[in-house]
Amino acid sequence: MKVVITGGTGFIGLLLAQRLIERGSLTGASGRAEAIDKIVLFDVMRPPSLPAPLEGRVEVVIGDVTDAALLGRLVSGESVAVFHLASVVSAGAEQDFDLALKVNLHGGLALFEATRALPRPARLVFTSSIAAFGGDKLPEIVTDETKPTPKTTYGMTKVVLELLVADYTRKGFFDGRGARLPTVVVRPGKPNAAASGFASGVFREPLSGIDYVLPVGPDISMPLLGYRRVVEGLIHLHELPREALGHDRTINFPSIAVKVGEMVESLKRVAGNRKIGAVSSAPNPAIEAICRTWPGRAAAERAKALGFPADTNIDSIVRAYIEDYVDR
Ligand SMILES: NC(=O)c1ccc[n+]([C@@H]2O[C@H](COP(=O)([O-])OP(=O)(O)OC[C@H]3O[C@@H](n4cnc5c(N)ncnc54)[C@H](O)[C@@H]3O)[C@@H](O)[C@H]2O)c1
Repeated sequence: MKVVITGGTGFIGLLLAQRLIERGSLTGASGRAEAIDKIVLFDVMRPPSLPAPLEGRVEVVIGDVTDAALLGRLVSGESVAVFHLASVVSAGAEQDFDLALKVNLHGGLALFEATRALPRPARLVFTSSIAAFGGDKLPEIVTDETKPTPKTTYGMTKVVLELLVADYTRKGFFDGRGARLPTVVVRPGKPNAAASGFASGVFREPLSGIDYVLPVGPDISMPLLGYRRVVEGLIHLHELPREALGHDRTINFPSIAVKVGEMVESLKRVAGNRKIGAVSSAPNPAIEAICRTWPGRAAAERAKALGFPADTNIDSIVRAYIEDYVDR
């Protein structure tokens, strides 16, 4: 099996590739576990270096997800698994509407068409976001059944792709599955243009000994999930039998609701005697405005029923990050 990951050199793409290499196999459209022969990380950005476990084990292809000819060459073969992660993210999309439309909508469509052209319908996993929810009538807890009425361009593009995934699947063009991800923490390295970046920065920077200024106040609540569970969840989503999802192909991923003030308390608790940077707050109205359009809590009943892995508390997520990145 060939695995193509768009946005493959990003935060989640690199971790997904590492986990797939550890596993060595993946269940795809054939319904049985197949050995993975090749992993292609397709991205517009070349990373300065690859994580050691990926060196020599993956093919990195640099290009734009709107390049239909290139996608046609990449998404080819007898057995292909597609993970579509490439995206202009939240604050970036709010700043540049045209780029968000180009990459998120037209890029998504180009990939869907390339996948549709395969000789046999492949499985395709798409990362949506809880930014799909929003608007003026947002309930306190969003569920799988809450009407997606996003109030950001990013969220709008995610909802459109969710609908396209459902319809391409209904038509039998491919077998698509969508993951509505909460904010994924703790992102290592540098932040991207996500407005939710502080939910990682508040842990990452102080744990590296750097002071951190939060752009939001302590009362904002965020649904969070640790990256380990996200990667396991994306693989689980790919491996589910087609019938497990029905017509509505996108599910809320599990999450825990954590207030910004609770993130700071968790940092101090988990850091213990470590010397950490100080955390202060200087609210940025643009970031706060985007965050307030998002749900503070999300239920994930479908994911729960389908056996998706979940985190139970923020401390264990931070401990995993320390183990994987700070102490290593
Ligand atoms: N990390 C989170 O908290 C979170 C939350 C909800 C949803 N998501 C979604 O999960 C996916 C992965 O997120 P991430 O945190 O790894 O983000 P990321 O920014 O680290 O990775 C996205 C990748 O897409 C690539 N990309 C952007 N434009 C491209 C283009 N035109 N052609 C090819 N590649 C392009 C970027 O270079 C980047 O490497 C995204 O679809 C994102 O919207 C992430």
